[in-house]
Amino acid sequence: MEVKLAEYAGFCFGVKRALDTVYEQIKNGKNIYTYGPIVHNEEVIRELTEKGVRILETKEALVELAKETNSRETSVIIRAHGVPEEIYHILEQEHLECIDATCPFVARIQKKVEEESRAGKHIVVIGNAVHPEVEGIVGWCKGPVTVLGDLAEAQEFELPEGGEICVVAQTTFNYKKFYNIVEILGKKGYNSTVANTICNATEERQRSARKLASEADVMIVIGGKHSSNTRKLYEICGEECAHTYFIQTLDDLRLELPKAVRLVGITAGASTPNKLIEEVQNYVRINF
Ligand code: F3S
Repeated sequence: MEVKLAEYAGFCFGVKRALDTVYEQIKNGKNIYTYGPIVHNEEVIRELTEKGVRILETKEALVELAKETNSRETSVIIRAHGVPEEIYHILEQEHLECIDATCPFVARIQKKVEEESRAGKHIVVIGNAVHPEVEGIVGWCKGPVTVLGDLAEAQEFELPEGGEICVVAQTTFNYKKFYNIVEILGKKGYNSTVANTICNATEERQRSARKLASEADVMIVIGGKHSSNTRKLYEICGEECAHTYFIQTLDDLRLELPKAVRLVGITAGASTPNKLIEEVQNYVRINF
């Protein structure tokens, strides 16, 4: 039986950069906080918590922190997925040191929606409205903004007459679904600017996961349960391979392998550490 890892799997550039930033700050001996979890992977978060990194979940928690702590010894790190503009203002007002680990690809979307909405366009974000990245992007818009998560919402979307739209995507959105939604909007005849802001890392992972899943008898997808890109990989692999499993850690791996398995494929979301991927690979190799 062969065990094969997808060509592109695991940490993407932005997540690696954000984590390197956190580890650098830990070395500096400061009190480290992240605004929201730095990445969507429970294993990584557990490791950081053990090293003393704490997570702030709300604006109120930021204000409280500023009251309780010596701001010179405290750093607040902005996660890879970014935050609404308002959070930067609060950090500034409260004199908290802000270390920005927003992925540059996400920052580019934030800048785009800020500029385009200032120019009077209605912003359409194709993505999941409750995902922190999308909440962040929405928080940079200076005018009307609509989040469209699926085809039905796109069908229902109506723009006040004479308006212009600027369409962007959540970086981890499914490529095919994005174009289907853009097509629906196109048919409505709006004057629109479309920026495909889906990240390459996502595309590469999705493409190579689909390719491997189409050849594999069993497919294992590793990632955090709140990681949207991991869930999408799971969805894609499930379309190609009937025996697809979603696991967070090695402990979740309860494989009941069908008979005559020739190839077990493995892929992992963009916030899954290499260590975990290797553990799973080795385990499958040794035990099956
Ligand atoms: Fe950045 Fe792309 Fe990763 S947007 S956080 S490199 S998935």
